[in-house]
Amino acid sequence: MSVFSKRPKVKFNVKTVFDGHFKITYRGIEAVKCPFDYVLYQMLIWEIKPDLIIEIGTNKGGSALYFADILNMLGGKREVHTIDIVKDLIDPSIANNTLIKTFTDGYQNYNLELAKGFEKILIIEDGSHTYEDTIAAMKKFASLVTPGSYMIIEDGIIDELGLKKAHNGGPLKAIAEFMDTSTDFVIDRKWCDMFGTNATFNVNGYLKRI
Ligand SMILES: C[S@@+](CC[C@H](N)C(=O)[O-])C[C@H]1O[C@@H](n2cnc3c(N)ncnc32)[C@H](O)[C@@H]1O
Repeated sequence: MSVFSKRPKVKFNVKTVFDGHFKITYRGIEAVKCPFDYVLYQMLIWEIKPDLIIEIGTNKGGSALYFADILNMLGGKREVHTIDIVKDLIDPSIANNTLIKTFTDGYQNYNLELAKGFEKILIIEDGSHTYEDTIAAMKKFASLVTPGSYMIIEDGIIDELGLKKAHNGGPLKAIAEFMDTSTDFVIDRKWCDMFGTNATFNVNGYLKRI
């Protein structure tokens, strides 16, 4: 009997996708995101057409490069501001990209004045994922988000992976607290649930400014 006469084994889950996502690169640079979210990001950026994306958490810069390439395809004057706390972590090729500005003093020291003059701003929070940092970054950057655009809070999936306690409640605690008092944002289920309920690492994390 041929091995092809049997239905092949298919076995993956949040944990296997999580393990695999550490191997993802974009144009050869580490770009640590859930594969579903890569697809959602390019759709969302195409729909919103931001002229500024602020990313908290650069790591090697693969995701910043991904965003910059999409912005480049849109044409016009557009920028990615990507912020980290670790110097020399970022791939050197990012330094020569005219669409990307890098900051290495943490989100706490990013000067909001730098966002002045941009018309449509998208915020992506992908920093330490502790509750404290997430809620502080949300409060700092929320007012920059243009109506119709988004503040995306990454990696609420850590609850599912048993890592919530290590992050003092993590992104989901921060999102719940923020949404309790905010009348400016809604969780956009269109993105969260495209492939199944919260089939994203950004669980309840696509916050649309209304
Ligand atoms: C999950 S990684 C970012 C991954 C990257 N966005 C990607 O998709 O490839 C988180 C990054 O947040 C950075 N980070 C930690 N605390 C931060 C802070 N206060 N401000 C900005 N970045 C911070 C870490 O140094 C780390 O590089």
